[in-house]
Amino acid sequence: MFELGVCYYPEQWPEHMWQRDAQRMVELGLSWVRVGEFAWSLLEEEEGVFDWAWLDRAVDILGTAGLKVVMCTPSAAPPKWLVDQHPDILPVAADGQVRKFGARRHYCFSSDIYREHAVRIAAEYAKRYGANPFVQAWQIDNEYGDHDTIHSYSENAKKAFQRWLAVRYQTIEALNDAWGTAFWSMKYNRFDQVELPNGLVEEPSPTHLLDYQRFASDEVVRFNRAQVDVVRKYAPGRPVTHNFMGHNVDFDHYKVGDDLDFASWDSYPMGALVHSRMDDQEKARLLRTGMPDQPAFNNDLYRRIGQGRAWIMEQQPGPVNWAEHNQSPHDGMVRLWTWLAFAHGIDVVCYFRWRQSRFAQEQFHAGLLLPNDDADQAYYEVAQVAKEMAVLPSGNAGRAPARVALVLDYASRWAAGSLPQGADYSSARNMMNWYQTLSARGVDVDIVGPQDDMAAYDLVILPDVILEDGDLAEKLALSKAKIYLSARTGSKTQNMHIPDNLPPGEFARLVNVKVKRVESLPDYCGDHIELDGQNYPVGNWRECIESDEAILARFKSDHRDQSPALVGNDKCWYGAANFSGALLDVLVDKLLLWAGVPAVQLSADVRITQRGELHFAFNFGDRMAEIDVPAEAEILLGQAKVAPRDLVIWRI
Ligand code: GLA
Ligand code: GLA
Repeated sequence: MFELGVCYYPEQWPEHMWQRDAQRMVELGLSWVRVGEFAWSLLEEEEGVFDWAWLDRAVDILGTAGLKVVMCTPSAAPPKWLVDQHPDILPVAADGQVRKFGARRHYCFSSDIYREHAVRIAAEYAKRYGANPFVQAWQIDNEYGDHDTIHSYSENAKKAFQRWLAVRYQTIEALNDAWGTAFWSMKYNRFDQVELPNGLVEEPSPTHLLDYQRFASDEVVRFNRAQVDVVRKYAPGRPVTHNFMGHNVDFDHYKVGDDLDFASWDSYPMGALVHSRMDDQEKARLLRTGMPDQPAFNNDLYRRIGQGRAWIMEQQPGPVNWAEHNQSPHDGMVRLWTWLAFAHGIDVVCYFRWRQSRFAQEQFHAGLLLPNDDADQAYYEVAQVAKEMAVLPSGNAGRAPARVALVLDYASRWAAGSLPQGADYSSARNMMNWYQTLSARGVDVDIVGPQDDMAAYDLVILPDVILEDGDLAEKLALSKAKIYLSARTGSKTQNMHIPDNLPPGEFARLVNVKVKRVESLPDYCGDHIELDGQNYPVGNWRECIESDEAILARFKSDHRDQSPALVGNDKCWYGAANFSGALLDVLVDKLLLWAGVPAVQLSADVRITQRGELHFAFNFGDRMAEIDVPAEAEILLGQAKVAPRDLVIWRI
């Protein structure tokens, strides 16, 4: 089943409008409405003094109209009275500045007092609405990590970090060994001496930084779980989610996802494009469509985070307000993103927001309606999707497992940041390069964590799983999959040391490689790799490796010319550089052929994918695209000649 919904703020509109709003939502074809995530100070005016009446009425009106309500706990926006009572719940930025009241997300995950209040208000919400027949799902908090709010450098965080370290290391000697404190006279005598890694003269020990990030991630998991538990207690049988952000890697999303019934994420492709590291020319080309693969990747990622169950909780409906520039998406994009989400396994798409706000911070942010209640462009597109959904066969077929997996390890992302080595090295971009290159060949991809079962894949790619992981190496060795290890794989132990046998550490059991030197290189470096008789430019990251495996490509350079760039055996290949652009195209073609995964050559603006028996082709470009729909196929929506920013759905 595929359903649509919307984010609604009854508290921002006069009550006489609610009834008509609810009616129009239903007429539009929406099934879900999300409420409550920023309503704390309006429900609890001072500690223990509640006014639920208005939210009761709103839920009643929405539910009676036929909508299912997603109720959100309000911990993303603590009220002023609570901050005044306990100023130390506020987070502290890396520069030591307290981050004040006046916007949102002004709390420190390590404040015990704040966690108690967050659980208390979640319990009050859940007692009030847990058994309400209209409230069919719950969201905890709102966008953990928004505006860099995972990391706090407060006294509370420092004490909690010291306790966390004492549990992890047991003895201070073990911490000193792990962090390498012999290096610059950084030795600690006791856990209560340990500092947070901000405001130092030079960079901290990378192990210090990595542990701080592990700790901060665990604090999010703990904070979230405490609310999930209390919501489950008072709202039994109702699924619980959190709305994650696209691309945030500040905490381990797998771990938070494990505590939820389903995952959801907030999709803002226009802002994601502006903030991406693509060059200006490519950005200009995609200015009003966004990168086709950006929402697709996140749909695939959050399908995994939700263990197969995922929604988009906030879908961009028009221009937003928060990016460097806020361009309008082309007409038709909201419909296209909605169908793309469904194709990638998303079950519900909710739009943010019902009506554009007349006041406060997000006045420039579009909604389905204009502030005066006129329908905006997205309204018509949602109406169209709602009608088109009738073509879907009944039953909720999900995506079949893909044949190719990309491994995303959150701790390795933190590891990359704690010893960057090159200013323009980006794990996120590497991951997206792989995803895009595979998608451009019509290859569906699963995003998996190092802890996941990989036995059934044909090809498993480790873009830069920096942290050595013996269990993962073992699992990969036993699987039937062909494996690709990129440069930097296994280059650090879990303690951020160089492995005893040199990188790739334990992964060397898959492919016999020793990394003897690494270089980070500027784009203008002029180095090349020769692959199948062709020369391709390479930069960013290069390694000098020693290996007795077959040499599949070599560097062409005035420096260590002919040194091996790609080596491998029948199980595993190792790339001694950051392959991108045309070089990555060729590498991916070779890998797919080697692993026996069928590929097609799609134009840059076309994407095909499959959900259950349904096949989809999307045209993100501004010219007609002719899709190879098999003659025996039954076309359910659209046609094989796909118009710009349109799609075709068929089954065989
Ligand atoms: C300086 C310092 C050394 C070392 C080197 C590294 O010279 O004095 O301790 O950090 O830089 O290049
Ligand atoms: C985020 C938040 C929303 C809103 C939107 C605006 O996704 O969760 O509350 O601020 O951004 O795009």
